[in-house]
Amino acid sequence: MTSSNHVRIVEVGARDGLQNEKTLLPADVKIALIDRLSSTGLQTIEATSFVSPKWVPQLADAAEVFRGIRKVPGVSYPVLVPNLQGYQRAREVGATDIAVFTAASEAFNRKNINASIDESIERFIPVIEQARADQVKVRGYVSTVLGCPYQGEVPVADVVRVARRMYELGCHEISLGDTIGVGTPAKARAMLHAVAQEVPMAALAVHFHDTYGQALANILTCLEEGVRVVDSSVSGTGGCPYAKGATGNVASEDVVYMLHGMGMSTGVDLDLLVATGAWLAAQLHKDTASRVTRARTAAA
Ligand code: HMG
Ligand code: MG
Repeated sequence: MTSSNHVRIVEVGARDGLQNEKTLLPADVKIALIDRLSSTGLQTIEATSFVSPKWVPQLADAAEVFRGIRKVPGVSYPVLVPNLQGYQRAREVGATDIAVFTAASEAFNRKNINASIDESIERFIPVIEQARADQVKVRGYVSTVLGCPYQGEVPVADVVRVARRMYELGCHEISLGDTIGVGTPAKARAMLHAVAQEVPMAALAVHFHDTYGQALANILTCLEEGVRVVDSSVSGTGGCPYAKGATGNVASEDVVYMLHGMGMSTGVDLDLLVATGAWLAAQLHKDTASRVTRARTAAA
């Protein structure tokens, strides 16, 4: 695993990206975005989120979007699910991959899902059980792994405890989220190393927001540590609406550019991804484009 040259990108732009954009995109534009992403060679594209539409109005059209997207064989389209109600909504439109989410910080969980860490885990135990019965794959997110907007420091031991619990409950993959992008490389490495003592590295992913421009450096140290699954967002859009100060995820174009430059494979066509990023930035009427997109646009 650690010596593998292949990195799987989990594209989260249509969910993590759009959930925090002020511009509300219509469902047909979201569908077009996901269809474009499907043609780039990405293997995993998080499509939307079946959370409460009162909490995240940007994704209130989750059912319409999920129904409308082209499901390319071999590509998985996970959706975020906070509770059984969300699971049922996701299943009604045929989702076969879901993601449940909690955090290593109590304070953030309260703001984000109105529950403590333990309550949130209790809430998704029946979701995981039902998913197992339905042969639905479950990914688990742990947020605030390198810092919390409300609590500040988050002890690594708390990250390890929550990640291990989610893995034991049956999540096939645990994504470690630096929700507000405060992490730096040495801290990212130490956190990943500690979690990997309890959860196999092959079941871990990293998820960096890029608030202070640290995401690529953090990803690099985590690759050196052995991780081979990286979450990123086309055009670097988004952030969490319930994490004060959170900016977009690291841009997928920048991650793919770095990985290919290091001789690693992703299966992603960078030109198609860059074109998709530029197209999305135009839909959002703002310059969220990645460094690669900006450089190519400037050179054209
Ligand atoms: P609550 O208000 O405590 O829930 O919200 P409730 O169970 O009391 O329900 C209140 C109302 O919401 C009821 O409707 C329910 O039916 C409805 P009412 O009777 O008032 O008309 N409701 C739902 N409707 C549709 N779908 C559902 C659903 N559930 C309840 N699934 C809840 C609790 C968890 C629902 C809410 O807090 C919520 O939806 N939070 C989501 C917040 C969110 O999406 N945050 C962003 C995602 S996490 C993230 O971005 C981090 C990540 O990227 C990793 C990282 O960066 O660290 C993953
Ligand atoms: Mg996120």
